[in-house]
Amino acid sequence: MQDTRRVLVVDDDAAMREMLVSLLDEEGIETRSAGSAADALELAKQEDFTAVLSDIRMPGTDGMQMLGELREIRPDAPVVLMTAFGTIDSAVDAMREGAFDYITKPFKRGIVLAALRRAFGQRQLEEENRRLRRAVDRTRSFGDLIGASSAMQDIFSMIRKITANRSNVLITGESGTGKEVVARTIHFTSVRKDGPFIPINCTAMPEGLLESELFGHVRGAFTGAHATKKGLFEEANGGTLFLDEIGDMAPGLQSKMLRVLQDQEIRPVGGTRSVRIDVRIVAATNRDLRDEIAQGRFRKDLFYRLNVIPIHIPPLRERPEDISLLAEHFIRKHSDGRSVRISGEAMARLLRLPWEGNARELENAIERALVLCEGGEISTRDLPDCETESPDRPGFETSLLQLATDRRMTLRELGDLYIEEILNLTKGNKVQAARILGINRRTLYRRGECVSEVSEA
Ligand SMILES: Nc1ncnc2c1ncn2[C@@H]1O[C@H](COP(=O)(O)OP(=O)(O)OP(=O)(O)O)[C@@H](O)[C@H]1O
Ligand SMILES: [Mg+2]
Repeated sequence: MQDTRRVLVVDDDAAMREMLVSLLDEEGIETRSAGSAADALELAKQEDFTAVLSDIRMPGTDGMQMLGELREIRPDAPVVLMTAFGTIDSAVDAMREGAFDYITKPFKRGIVLAALRRAFGQRQLEEENRRLRRAVDRTRSFGDLIGASSAMQDIFSMIRKITANRSNVLITGESGTGKEVVARTIHFTSVRKDGPFIPINCTAMPEGLLESELFGHVRGAFTGAHATKKGLFEEANGGTLFLDEIGDMAPGLQSKMLRVLQDQEIRPVGGTRSVRIDVRIVAATNRDLRDEIAQGRFRKDLFYRLNVIPIHIPPLRERPEDISLLAEHFIRKHSDGRSVRISGEAMARLLRLPWEGNARELENAIERALVLCEGGEISTRDLPDCETESPDRPGFETSLLQLATDRRMTLRELGDLYIEEILNLTKGNKVQAARILGINRRTLYRRGECVSEVSEA
């Protein structure tokens, strides 16, 4: 928080304004004042305020309308509204629109100061939370990669270890687990980051074409080769070549590839001269290459050349600790700057879904939810239905607790989540659930009202 506390005072009544300014001044609080909402918004655009103290009823734009715009310009500044007795209803409405507090006129000085002190406290708390969150985020992300699970943390530290060398890397993992982001992170955190990163999909191209794409060709090497063309290997010199879906590479090409990796040089198609290259190869596949080798479809020696640094990304369902982080990341990524929250229940649903399509499926679900959601909050309604029961998988409980801690949940919210979990476990049997929870059935019915809706969804 800024060292000096600065309050924006807004009132069309000049005498009131002056009184407030001098009151705050005595308390060592800096002020700016505005006689209309329009002026106030103009000031708010120029500088940040610790808090805003504003009259509700003003000619032109009133305090209510101003509140909405202010929340957009300075979402962090708590707004305390002043209202005459007759406008208490609108003050209550204002609270729903996100005002921090209201005081009724006429008021004693102590009342204004107390409300402002609470606003300052709130502001400080939020900033503290944000600071903590940033500190946490630093350890839970690396380059573009996000992850709190031990599997992801191991991947971060492996990537850190290989920033300076040129060892080839083989990334394995189911579809959508993030192989391409890992490949990019390897490149962009390495000493080669100023060199090129060139991705190439081995599935998409027929063997002949892929060969000339990779190694280049000289003029006249084949019909249509009107000019000498550099291959991607040469383009990637000093950088990283990302061979995606390496498991699909044609056998003939695998042999040529092996030779390049052994000799560190390439020979363009139709050429006689070799070119030395300095390229790190990062390959990725969602196939089991050992299996492919056993079936005679992949060269064992090529596998060993590539698999110098093996990185395996486990499926998302095996690292539930990453789900809430990824979900929040995808919300930020796709909300176009709107501020969208996700309810605790919705987050719990995300933890329980099976995510066969891994992070990509989660990303798609979030994109869809962002379109469907109303009132700036993603709720269970906006998410895919959950057919599976409470998953019996390691890390699930800890991630639930992690989620509660991360979100600074209240005991009540956490309690609701836990009740939902137990109801799931008992397949909706409330008698049994109440017994496990150690509460009586009526209490469960009462508390479970909103919760059971979810577990039955
Ligand atoms: N750990 C992560 N941190 C941030 N974003 C991630 C992470 N994992 C996956 N993603 C995002 O999820 C989406 C899918 O990831 P990516 O394309 O890297 O998967 P993939 O393993 O290459 O999939 P496929 O096998 O289908 O090619 C991308 O938008 C990616 O940015
Ligand atoms: Mg991919």
